[in-house]
Amino acid sequence: MALAREIVNKFLDSDPSPSLSQDRMKRYEKFADEIAELIRTGVLAPGERVPSVRHASRTYGVSPSTVFQAYYLLEDRGLIQARARSGYFVREHAKRPLHEPDIGTRAAETTDVGVSELVFSVLASLRDPETVPFGSAFPSPELFPMARLARSMAQSVRDMPAREVIAEMTAGNPDLRRQIALRYMVSGVMLPMEELVITSGAMEALNLCLQVVTTPGDLVAIESPAFYATLQVLERLKLKAVEIPVHPREGIDLDVLTDSLARLPIKACWFMSSLQNPLGASMGTEKKQALYALLQQHQVPLIEDDVYAELYFTKDPPKPVKSFDRDGLVMHCGSFSKSLAPGYRIGWVAGGRFAEQISRLKLMTTISPSVPAQAAIADYLQHGGYDRHLRKLRHALEMQQAAMLASAARHFPASTRVTRPSGGYFLWFEFPEQVDSLQLLQLALAQGISLAPGPIFSATQRFRNCARLNHGHPWDARSERAMELLGRMIRSF
Ligand SMILES: Cc1ncc(COP(=O)(O)O)c(C=O)c1O
Repeated sequence: MALAREIVNKFLDSDPSPSLSQDRMKRYEKFADEIAELIRTGVLAPGERVPSVRHASRTYGVSPSTVFQAYYLLEDRGLIQARARSGYFVREHAKRPLHEPDIGTRAAETTDVGVSELVFSVLASLRDPETVPFGSAFPSPELFPMARLARSMAQSVRDMPAREVIAEMTAGNPDLRRQIALRYMVSGVMLPMEELVITSGAMEALNLCLQVVTTPGDLVAIESPAFYATLQVLERLKLKAVEIPVHPREGIDLDVLTDSLARLPIKACWFMSSLQNPLGASMGTEKKQALYALLQQHQVPLIEDDVYAELYFTKDPPKPVKSFDRDGLVMHCGSFSKSLAPGYRIGWVAGGRFAEQISRLKLMTTISPSVPAQAAIADYLQHGGYDRHLRKLRHALEMQQAAMLASAARHFPASTRVTRPSGGYFLWFEFPEQVDSLQLLQLALAQGISLAPGPIFSATQRFRNCARLNHGHPWDARSERAMELLGRMIRSF
């Protein structure tokens, strides 16, 4: 590594420009990403030689110093290593990338929900700021434009006419709703602004939607595994869960859902069609269309939780099921918590035919999210460079995913399985059968490492040998060491 650094410095010294221009920075990072993608997808296998600097420079039309810097970056990320006089190789430690989990198909299960105690005790154990935050639900705050948002907050509050502080509280700040509607339009969803209700995070939106379409005792189809708060909401509202299995890459099992809708009086579905939490699964567009047709046939409303919508690594954004909604059956819930402003607690729902009821229920409960926070985000969306921020955020998350996958392949048993989501900041691991992730959590916490154990994602507390790990924080030596320790703990079962 020291040698590589020396060579790079020599190249840079001989460069006529006094400092790295923004463009060159971008070029070598881009080239590094292309190579990282080849490694991630297995095109460049562990132990394989990456193109020599001279070859890469000639073939891809980049300067030798760009290639060197890219390789140096990849070396820092632990993806390649230099061998004396032989060039760069994909790190052998990876042996093979770990396989994807095979959660398989199984019948739907109907059950009362009672996971809150477990979830609360696990969440309490994750709070220590000193722990390596693999169990966290958020990416690193460093990845968000907090200072720029603060400027938007100051500016918008300063300019706010006094009467606006109490006006428009029901549906939400009109500028913010317009900005959100514009973003829907750009992504191909034409949405009248009247459908949009601003809420205190997506969590309030999801709660309101469910309350509008159910009464206690009703059946609600949810995913298995599911985001643990889904289970807690069902528990609080005394609803019964019909757990529909989720394929780790393709999303919910439509055959099981078809059968369940035919047999059971399901009142609503609560699904994540893209970047599902915790698996990261995204349904293809045709499958989303088929899901909509099925729900339309049964006239069962869909609560579509799409809080990770902006964190895709693919070229184009995934389309939500909402984009096929012709008769207002889909309540599409979004949030800025994961992509822009954690802690501002601003989310929304495009409520379809239920928008008015949702808005009224909100008025009867929380009235409105903070007016200054809404104004700040509206100002930021208009002037702050949201798309530029999102590009940087997606890029960082994708690189960190590659680093965690490579590290898992180095340190975890070869029979471990792991997802490869096309976005977001979670990986779902399936460890060998005998591993108990609740015990693993205790062992890990004793070493200052957190994780989200499998059973908190299921009403029937399955997935005992599974865990969700967060790669939303910059990858460093501490993360690498934590993976190594986890690997040892996993082997000790
Ligand atoms: C799948 C999912 N839905 C909803 C939420 C809640 O989002 P918000 O913070 O906007 O309330 C989260 C946050 O962890 C989540 O992971």
